[in-house]
Amino acid sequence: MSYASEFCNYKPKEEAVILAIESSCDETAAAVVKGGRQILSNEIMSSVTEHIRFGGVVPEIASRAHTAAVSLVTDAALKSAGVTLADVDAVAVTYGAGLLGALLVGVSYAKALAFAANLPLVPVSHIRGHIAACYLGNPSLEPPFISLLASGGHTAVILVESYTSYRILGSTLDDAVGEAFDKVARVLGLDYPGGPNIEKLARLGSPSVPLPLMFKGEKTYDLSYSGLKTAVMNYRNKREMTGLPDDDADIACSFQQAAIGALVKRVEEAVDEFGILKVTAGGGVVANGYLREQLASACAKKSAQLFLPEKKLCTDNAAMIAAEGYIRYMNGEFAGLDLNACASVELR
Ligand code: KG4
Ligand code: ZN
Repeated sequence: MSYASEFCNYKPKEEAVILAIESSCDETAAAVVKGGRQILSNEIMSSVTEHIRFGGVVPEIASRAHTAAVSLVTDAALKSAGVTLADVDAVAVTYGAGLLGALLVGVSYAKALAFAANLPLVPVSHIRGHIAACYLGNPSLEPPFISLLASGGHTAVILVESYTSYRILGSTLDDAVGEAFDKVARVLGLDYPGGPNIEKLARLGSPSVPLPLMFKGEKTYDLSYSGLKTAVMNYRNKREMTGLPDDDADIACSFQQAAIGALVKRVEEAVDEFGILKVTAGGGVVANGYLREQLASACAKKSAQLFLPEKKLCTDNAAMIAAEGYIRYMNGEFAGLDLNACASVELR
């Protein structure tokens, strides 16, 4: 009998306590969440400072850091939630998308823990985790809604039809929006991760740099960030070569406005087209204050309700993995001990 089938007769509990583990990139995280929405603990250890001098996450360094941190973070999550493994109903773990070596640390640890405690193992897509973050702290939120996914690896506008069925309205054809923030930050000599540093610099500038409009005049939910990034690079190089003074704050402000404007416009169009007056968002870029303001005013204009996760639930964390894990747990979607890590997973 396979490990997953041992739990085929389980009775899902509404108030199930899920212990979740996340290790897809440079954050080792563990969280305990009750009933899919109530966070009992949310612990994170990041190796970001070890990557800064390389200008991006170094997979081997991230994997080693996860190995050192995973049991400490998990113990801390149980302790600060005031529970033991005996109170836990399932172990959820991110199996993809992300850095393979990094994911394997979390997956191996979660498998061992689930097996030792005889608990079901729930495999969770990191991308779906970002989308499910909106449920945390929002007890009344239910699908259908329009969801904006804006992270370092993915960018999409999604119609969430039910807890488990998604319709991708459009997605980026090249770079993800967070990746574009990181690349533009590097051009401007700012540290990784670039998003928060661009946001800070943008506050000192004005949106005066002319940048191309994405898919001008076309009706599409798709996005493309490579042209915007190249336009920023060309503008800055030209200015440097002609000896003009640095206007990096204006570049940051103009880029931020263009990158985020394209996202908000698509959300507005989706609200109009589908007549759904509920909007959510998730992913690291949703921690951006300008994006949050722009979404809020767009939703107010359309009389749509906006449900944003707290900023610390937008960037990588395990509470969002528990939120999505709860949905999978209620559906009885359990993994065997042969669960493997996947570098990429389908958005749907
Ligand atoms: O969701 P996330 O933590 O990891 C992925 O799953 O990719 O997203 C990380 C991305 C990075 O590209 C980072 O620069 C961006 O989110 N980010 C931001 C902000 N905070 C993080 N981008 C813009 N403004 C921010 N405040
Ligand atoms: Zn993420």
